Amino acid sequence: MSKKVRWGVLSTAQIAKNHVIPAMQAGAFTEIVAIASRDEDRAREAAVDLGIPRAYGSYEALLADPDIDAIYNPLPNHLHAPLTIKALEAGKHVLCEKPIALSAEEARQIQDAQEKSGLLLGEAFMVRFHPQWRRVREIIRGGRLGEVRAIQTIFSYFLTDPSNIRNQADIGGGGLYDIGCYAINTARFAFDAEPERVIGILDIDPQMGTDRLSSGLAAFPEGRQLAFTCATQLVPCQRVQILGTQGRIEIQIPFNAPADQEAAIIVDDGRDLSGSGREIIKIPAIDQYTLQGDAFSQAVLGEQPLEWGVADAVANMRVIDALFRSAKTGKWERP
Ligand SMILES: NC(=O)c1ccc[n+]([C@@H]2O[C@H](COP(=O)([O-])OP(=O)(O)OC[C@H]3O[C@@H](n4cnc5c(N)ncnc54)[C@H](OP(=O)(O)O)[C@@H]3O)[C@@H](O)[C@H]2O)c1
Repeated sequence: MSKKVRWGVLSTAQIAKNHVIPAMQAGAFTEIVAIASRDEDRAREAAVDLGIPRAYGSYEALLADPDIDAIYNPLPNHLHAPLTIKALEAGKHVLCEKPIALSAEEARQIQDAQEKSGLLLGEAFMVRFHPQWRRVREIIRGGRLGEVRAIQTIFSYFLTDPSNIRNQADIGGGGLYDIGCYAINTARFAFDAEPERVIGILDIDPQMGTDRLSSGLAAFPEGRQLAFTCATQLVPCQRVQILGTQGRIEIQIPFNAPADQEAAIIVDDGRDLSGSGREIIKIPAIDQYTLQGDAFSQAVLGEQPLEWGVADAVANMRVIDALFRSAKTGKWERP
């Protein structure tokens, strides 16, 4: 295998064209060699724009290319499981966009395919590769916050275009799948634990049938709690607060930290409410998608282990499932 992993991209998704492909092309271990679309002209146009050597008019044709080592799957959510399984069966490693699937059962099917193939599978929660989240975890583990007991997360945007995949219920739209998954993922990351039970409430858009305002509570071991709200029709906002017995951390742009701006996290020891015990930690600008791509490529090359694989993806999906169940039953549910 070459020193760089040769990647193929399934579809001309906005996230791929605008962020992930350019970021991965800037990586040291990553080469984007092909892109596919349902429409061959669209694939060719994207390939020319992005300097990708090969273009395919179907996802299957790309998967059949023997020169491709790994697949990036940024399809709409309902196609994550089917195409990820096809890619694994075609002998390719897969980095699949979040959420990995529409249910834990589908995620388990991916796990079966992954185990059969012996290939690598990752869910593209790029935030875990951003140094700001690494720093947050170091601070938590270093004890500066005392006992960390609570996380509060808000993630919202305003989007009512019915043609956007996020507003189509039948293809996996809605806030919980799209952004609630980050609240769950980052709380599992920060607490380094799995929630024991969850309760959720959803407000469903009457036209589109998608959850537009969703909140959840998750009870982690030792009395720790996550409370989150995510919304697709609310003023855009992203914030995470992690609170311990002796301090708190506030992450200013926890999820879409811009690649060209310093990131900032605030650590406050709470000595007074006006913030005189605050330290603002600046983190140099960095592209979290480049870090994610290179980390996966290095795992493919055998140079470092994959930090989060299919088991983590299944665990995250179990929590999302339980929140959907809870919204129906009105009761606590176990992931
Ligand atoms: N990690 C992140 O930061 C991040 C950010 C945004 C989105 N995402 C994830 O990335 C995925 C794509 O999001 P996006 O906003 O980039 O979506 P998008 O622009 O709508 O792209 C989805 C692509 O899938 C293909 N497709 C196949 N069947 C389709 C169908 N029935 N309806 C619509 N498109 C279909 C289309 O490409 P062709 O026509 O070329 O085949 C389309 O361009 C989602 O899973 C989302 O959760 C992740």
